[in-house]
Amino acid sequence: MAKKLWGGRFRKELEKSAEEYLQSIEVDKEMVLEDVWGSEAHAVMLCKQGIIADRDLKEILYWLEKVKRDFQKGKFKLSKEAEDVHMNVEGVLIREAGKEYGGKLHTARSRNDQVITDARLYIRRQILDIEELVIQLQKTFLDIGRKHLETPMPGYTHTQDAQPITLAYWATAYVSLLMRDLSRLENAYGIVDTNPLGSCALAGTSFPIDRRLTTKLLGFSGLHKHSLDAISSRDFIAETLCALAINMSNLSKLAEEMVYWSTFEFNLITLDDRYTAGSSIMPQKKNPCVAELTRGRTGAVYGSLMQLLTTLKAIPMGYNRDLQEDKPPLWNAIKTVKSTLYVVNGMIGTIKFHEERMEELAGANFTTATEIANYLVIEKKVPFRKSHEIVGNLVATLVEEGKSFKDFDTVDRVLKMSGIGISFNDLRDIIDSKKAVQAYKSEGSTSPKEVAAMIGEFEESIRRHEKGIKQRRERIEGAKRLTESVVKSVLSGKKIKSIDM
Ligand code: ARG
Repeated sequence: MAKKLWGGRFRKELEKSAEEYLQSIEVDKEMVLEDVWGSEAHAVMLCKQGIIADRDLKEILYWLEKVKRDFQKGKFKLSKEAEDVHMNVEGVLIREAGKEYGGKLHTARSRNDQVITDARLYIRRQILDIEELVIQLQKTFLDIGRKHLETPMPGYTHTQDAQPITLAYWATAYVSLLMRDLSRLENAYGIVDTNPLGSCALAGTSFPIDRRLTTKLLGFSGLHKHSLDAISSRDFIAETLCALAINMSNLSKLAEEMVYWSTFEFNLITLDDRYTAGSSIMPQKKNPCVAELTRGRTGAVYGSLMQLLTTLKAIPMGYNRDLQEDKPPLWNAIKTVKSTLYVVNGMIGTIKFHEERMEELAGANFTTATEIANYLVIEKKVPFRKSHEIVGNLVATLVEEGKSFKDFDTVDRVLKMSGIGISFNDLRDIIDSKKAVQAYKSEGSTSPKEVAAMIGEFEESIRRHEKGIKQRRERIEGAKRLTESVVKSVLSGKKIKSIDM
């Protein structure tokens, strides 16, 4: 067995079970390209600063590029014996270029700053992908909104009929809340996007490194300056997990609605066959399994956040091996959130809304009672608390007699007992749910005019977010191109002093 790269101080080899216990390659295999990029930036900087020679750099970059190519072809396999991605990549250099060259890459670097550099590079990309998926879902809701500005549906509180709203109003509520998910992700990105490389083990280094140069080559928007803080902290992962957990909480709200809206009893929607599943015994069944699993997997993402926070609790300053456990919960959460957003978008985009049923329920079960109370306030000068009582009593009588607001004679009779006269036409107009939604004209209300205006504002916000995502992607791509071009120049024999960067 090959000796460990850190093996000098040891007289015995690691016990097999301990070796297996320590290794993290299943998790690290996600970060091979990031490890190569980080290593290339570091090596270029070392040479630029005169810490290693041009010849060393050329050798190092040659083998790092080989790792990259092998990985892309699926030929780079991480070995458990080498412990983690960093030792696996460096191991290739030591093996192929020998310690004389490959052994110089780890000058002025520690796995402590290396691992968080890799993780930050990786998470940046993941957050951008997730932001895009959130925007896709928002766009699907906006499509529903644009089509159904005037479609009435029942609005609920306590899952009980409350007041008529429009389908567009419901759909845009999700656009509105997802906007904050986007902001949280963007905020997390800002915390992730600082360069810890050059912090070394904990105290910085006596070598004359240039941390600004690696910041540039890796496309970070800033330097994570305090080295001890940088290598000790994982709040960038907690912040990301927090944003993901809240996002799942929002998706679970939606999932819950899809589950009961599609029941025979509610009958507000039909979910597309492609997003439902059958029963192995009951032939008639069509189950909302995608929505249920969205609801069900929310717990796992909350769990990931709790798992990390618990790992981080009371960890003293400095790198502690516990911190290796930061990635599994994040990786799991990222996977779940991405697949959930993708499939939920498909489910929502293919819903068939039962407009007739929605309209029927929108005006049923006394949902316009508040509007009758408001009418008494405006037209009959009754104080609201009093009109609330009058209409409450009216509803109780109608319920007792098995009637509704449509039974004009009964409504008229009961209101007269409180000294109120109402015309047939007035009552008909008040209890018309289509007219009711037009009447709610306060800012941010369900009226078609307000919702149309909000749709315009949401479109504008989405454009801003998209622009932000594009700029962040360009920054990453630009830095990657810069590193690649420097690597290419070095490999073609150019001296580092002659390369602009
Ligand atoms: N595999 C380790 C991790 O994920 C890398 C850092 C190891 N550092 C150390 N001092 N042993 O945290």
